Amino acid sequence: MHTQVGIVGGGPAGMALSHLLHLQGIDSVVLELRSREDVETAVRAGVLENGTAELLRETGVGERMDREGAVHHGIELRFGGRGHRIDMTELTGGRTITVYGQHEVVKDLYRTRLEAGGQIVFEAAAIGLRDLDTSTPKIRFRRGAELDLDAGAIRFHGDTEEEELTCDFVAGCDGFFGVSRPSMPADIRREYVRTYPFGWFGILVEGPPSSEELIYTLHERGFSLVSTRSPEIQRLYFQCDPNDDVANWPDDRIWEELQTRLATQDGWTLQEGNIFQKDIVGMRSFVTEPMQHGRLFLAGDAAHIVPPTGAKGMNLAIADIRVLSRALTEFYSTGQTGLLDAYSETCLRRVWNAQRFSWWMTSMLHRFHDGDDYQYRLQQAELDYVTSSRAAATSLAENYVGLPMEATTGVPAAG
Ligand code: PHB
Repeated sequence: MHTQVGIVGGGPAGMALSHLLHLQGIDSVVLELRSREDVETAVRAGVLENGTAELLRETGVGERMDREGAVHHGIELRFGGRGHRIDMTELTGGRTITVYGQHEVVKDLYRTRLEAGGQIVFEAAAIGLRDLDTSTPKIRFRRGAELDLDAGAIRFHGDTEEEELTCDFVAGCDGFFGVSRPSMPADIRREYVRTYPFGWFGILVEGPPSSEELIYTLHERGFSLVSTRSPEIQRLYFQCDPNDDVANWPDDRIWEELQTRLATQDGWTLQEGNIFQKDIVGMRSFVTEPMQHGRLFLAGDAAHIVPPTGAKGMNLAIADIRVLSRALTEFYSTGQTGLLDAYSETCLRRVWNAQRFSWWMTSMLHRFHDGDDYQYRLQQAELDYVTSSRAAATSLAENYVGLPMEATTGVPAAG
């Protein structure tokens, strides 16, 4: 089997790459470990930066997003029992965010690629990469894979054999636990990690929205967030012990905790509803440098993780892909490797800014129970400043809606 660009992983990064390359006449094959159904139903954050939504729209995959997604012009920061609105659109000269689930973006990309004859091999486990420093790198993979989430292991059904996909380039879009990053020689890799002493307890609720905009709250008992998926489905989070168990949280206890943390002095009410899913996610910041080796290019979670507080995860993945697709287009149309050679450096500038922003939002809005009261008072002062200084609010707003590509990579967005 042969293709121009072998893509390991069919999440937002891999699928966006396959789509953008196709628009430039470049072939790819996507190998995805999970079934189509599993990827399409995974619940992931749903905030699209202005530029991410625009890219989807400009490349013909934004139609359903424009119909079903919700355009937001601001967010609320709540602390001390009071809400403060950050008017992002006004502060950024007209930019917005779109609330539209990551799995919805992936669904739209699958449909578009499959209709155009794109090759996506579902339930295919990449086993290893080789010949990365030659012009014919190879991906070894096996079909019939199944991810056993409880055991954290991959099993195979049927007696499938190992196959090899030979490519000109490999895009490692296989997430934090994929084979791509560990395929880079350990002695050229440098990893930067920060683990936070808390997690997010997330619930999906059938019921009406409590707010038209997202609410990020700091309370003495910890962080909480009011988000949404649709007019009928709400997404709420609260800070918890990352090692806690959802079984410790019957519905009544969850509502009591959320009501306490979100209460305001003006009698705002949180709408309760039927909780139909509960999960706990850990929080970490992670970057690997460089993001390329030979003919392997890492993109998205394979190269970097941000805590969800800044809602940057998928947006960063799409930003990587914008840089990579442009570099590959240059290579195939002119034979030049300048943009490919600069890939890692170009992406890392934006990645580190997003790390900074996500770390800052996380530090400002969570209770560090191992910290002292001094730290908590500083966080309150930070929130007070951000919600009362136009300069500080503008800084939050321009990062939240997404800095323009050229501001963080030096590469203009168009083209
Ligand atoms: C979500 O809706 O899942 C969501 C929204 C904003 C965040 C993180 C997650 O910062």
